[in-house]
Amino acid sequence: MTSKEIREAFLAFFKNKSHQIVPSAPVVVKNDPTLMFTNAGMNQFKDLFLGEAQAKYSRVADTQRCLRVSGKHNDLEEVGIDTYHHTLFEMLGNWSFGDYFKKEAIAWAWELMTEVYKLDKDRLYVTIFEGDEKEGLARDMEAFDFWKALIAEDRILLGNKKDNFWEMGETGPCGPCSEIHYDMRPDAERQQVGGHELVNADHEQVIEIWNLVFMQFNRLKNGSLETLPAQNVDTGMGFERLVRAIQGKTSNYDTDVFQPMIQFIAEKSGIVYGADVKTDVAMRVLVDHIRAVSFAIADGQLPSNNKAGYVIRRILRRAVRYAYTFLGFKTPFFNELVPLLSAQFAGVFDELSQQESFVQKVVLEEEVSFLRTLTTGIQRFENYVADHAQVDGDFAFELFDTYGFPIDLTDLLSREKGLSVDMEGFQKALQAQKERSRAATAIDTGDWVLVQEDEETEFVGYDYLEATTQIVKYRKVTAKGKEQYQLVLSVTPFYPEGGGQVGDTGVLVSEANEKVYITDTKKENGLIVHFVNQLPPVLEGDFKATVNKDKRIDTENNHSATHLLHAALKQVLGDHVNQKGSMVSPEVLRFDVSHFAKITYDEIKQVEDIVNARIRANIALKEERQVPYQQAIDSGVTALFGEKYGDYVRVITFDDAFSKELCGGTHVSSTSQIGFFKITSESAVAAGVRRIEAITGTHAYAVIREQFELVDKLRELMNNPKDFVSSIGKLIEDNSDLRKAVENSIRERSLALMSDLTSKVENINGVNFLAVEVDLPNADAVKTLTYALKGAVENVFIVIGADFDGKPSLTVAISDELAKEKGWNAGAIVKDLAKDIQGGGGGQPFFATAGGKLSAGLVKAIARAKDFVN
Ligand code: ALA
Repeated sequence: MTSKEIREAFLAFFKNKSHQIVPSAPVVVKNDPTLMFTNAGMNQFKDLFLGEAQAKYSRVADTQRCLRVSGKHNDLEEVGIDTYHHTLFEMLGNWSFGDYFKKEAIAWAWELMTEVYKLDKDRLYVTIFEGDEKEGLARDMEAFDFWKALIAEDRILLGNKKDNFWEMGETGPCGPCSEIHYDMRPDAERQQVGGHELVNADHEQVIEIWNLVFMQFNRLKNGSLETLPAQNVDTGMGFERLVRAIQGKTSNYDTDVFQPMIQFIAEKSGIVYGADVKTDVAMRVLVDHIRAVSFAIADGQLPSNNKAGYVIRRILRRAVRYAYTFLGFKTPFFNELVPLLSAQFAGVFDELSQQESFVQKVVLEEEVSFLRTLTTGIQRFENYVADHAQVDGDFAFELFDTYGFPIDLTDLLSREKGLSVDMEGFQKALQAQKERSRAATAIDTGDWVLVQEDEETEFVGYDYLEATTQIVKYRKVTAKGKEQYQLVLSVTPFYPEGGGQVGDTGVLVSEANEKVYITDTKKENGLIVHFVNQLPPVLEGDFKATVNKDKRIDTENNHSATHLLHAALKQVLGDHVNQKGSMVSPEVLRFDVSHFAKITYDEIKQVEDIVNARIRANIALKEERQVPYQQAIDSGVTALFGEKYGDYVRVITFDDAFSKELCGGTHVSSTSQIGFFKITSESAVAAGVRRIEAITGTHAYAVIREQFELVDKLRELMNNPKDFVSSIGKLIEDNSDLRKAVENSIRERSLALMSDLTSKVENINGVNFLAVEVDLPNADAVKTLTYALKGAVENVFIVIGADFDGKPSLTVAISDELAKEKGWNAGAIVKDLAKDIQGGGGGQPFFATAGGKLSAGLVKAIARAKDFVN
């Protein structure tokens, strides 16, 4: 079977067992502060497990793109070195939400493995959870019994909490699990050592393929386990490993998932895969990392210098580093893998093929700028190893952090030079950095405390700004030492931050008229969470929840204007323009788009014209709340990459022929409410992404008025000329002429001093000495004078003092020959003399200046000058 057939067979098998096949969620996670990237197929169903939302289907299956490069599940350092870990991998999964449980999950897994994929029963092993006394969990005898009906008892192994109790993160859904392992060793080896001895022992040929998790618990912040409302099944099968097992390969990279790209690299580099360990590792790193980088970018995470963006940048740099050092690619190459990957995933994850050229260009730009850094890093490394006996941890960390050198590579390069790396020191520095960034963002979130029976919040914010509600639950959150509370309400008119639109603020009033202010509203998985600085004195009973109306209206103006802007940009710049980020607040809207050139002033004006014409056309909002997703797409709506859409979507239309977007935000009822739209800036945010900032409504009005007032004031200052612009031009011209005239006259004045001063030159021990205070207005004038004197008198030593409006200065000049001959240094002399004026300065041996604070000290400094000649 080809990998494509293997994937299709999985989905067909579960479809046959009444599972709904759903699309993969984006790999970049929103709405879950515990997670940066999707690390398991179950992430998108977290709220269903926790009972925070109702499952639409009780049986679901999919293939989910996952990224295990940060947090609890992190495989990055293994990738490329071994043959079965990946950054981005596909997780095939089937789920039951309160439907079937262990019996069916186990029986179907076995049926698929042995009857559809026809894997050798003789090579299969399974594990079950042995129990854990501390957690109060018994051995999973149920799973054991179900397996016993299918497989010989000596192939059912016991596993501990680490291997057989799966948890999503520090908190969240979890449960005992049962894994399926496959022994791919040759028969001779298998006869010598039984496979059961190598299960979960990091053997490259005896590997876990499928994990069946029986989701029964929620791990709370306090460490305890809470039983979930229903018994669920969550399974995850490593697609690339499955393909390897079915195709009978000893490495994931030998399957048709990776070989085409590896062969492409081999051809381009002229190096055969399999010829050498180092080049093999490098090729594996490249074909693996391009997947993580490409899908992260396609799902909306651009490489950057912080958080998720930094993780992606580091992965990209790790790949470029390997390509450069081991495969001889000294110019950008990594980006050339994007089209191959895009073709491979067309029809599976179309997000990449739809944005292929954008993704490739972003990767290319990153490569170009990193290759520049790399040259400096390599120089640093070469210089360092030239005079060190060991590479210390801090230096290895600097290479890692600043120059993107993966530690395994630094180790390798160092060993080639006969040096070892202080790994412990490196780990310490790395840990310290992690600690720092953790401390900077540390948020301590308490467990939810129920006030009344848990229920799903009813959101009424599209229709009302006020509602009678009750507090369902609350929890305490401490961030940067500041305590806050979060509330979940039974009904809420508060819009939670999402789709770029900021969360609503407002007030909650109890029946006893006690008020607490809601400072922000956010979505977390399926929950709408309201932030308050303190809890109401009484939590029970009815509350009136009221949204701050002015802010909401201003925000709506900006949000609807963003839609008009998006449509106008597509008209003016072309269809390649895709939304890459958006922020809509009451004050301003910010919109990022993919476009590879500066948006010109002319284009900006065209966009403004279109948007303002649409505003004046007073187009009524068409809001459809429950459109089947496919129907919406077929009608030509603009959907965003990196968003997870449900089966039913909300469509916001302003004129069917103009703007039609999938959107969950709040909008004006007709466009004239926006009033007026003005772009205030256009800039670059990242390679291939431009940012537009704009204002609307009352804010645009205020800014326009301010601008008018400013111009009026300026006109008045200029005595209300007819042609304002040309009078300012004239003013600037006059000013520059006058400046030149003044400069000339000062120069003349300083030169006029010349004859007077040359007559004051004394000859002391063969040196022509002059120390004097002059009356000149600025440093330039003194410099002109000093240079003229130095040019006119031979063998001269000059000290000039001057006072520029209370700021004393000293200038020392020495003839070049004299400085050389006697070793005198104007810089050192001026420093010494400057003590008298309470100042400091410096310069060259021939010319130096100093400034100070004490004008009265000039006399003394000038008197002391003679000491240097004597
Ligand atoms: N959620 C389980 C895992 O990721 C299936 O292994």
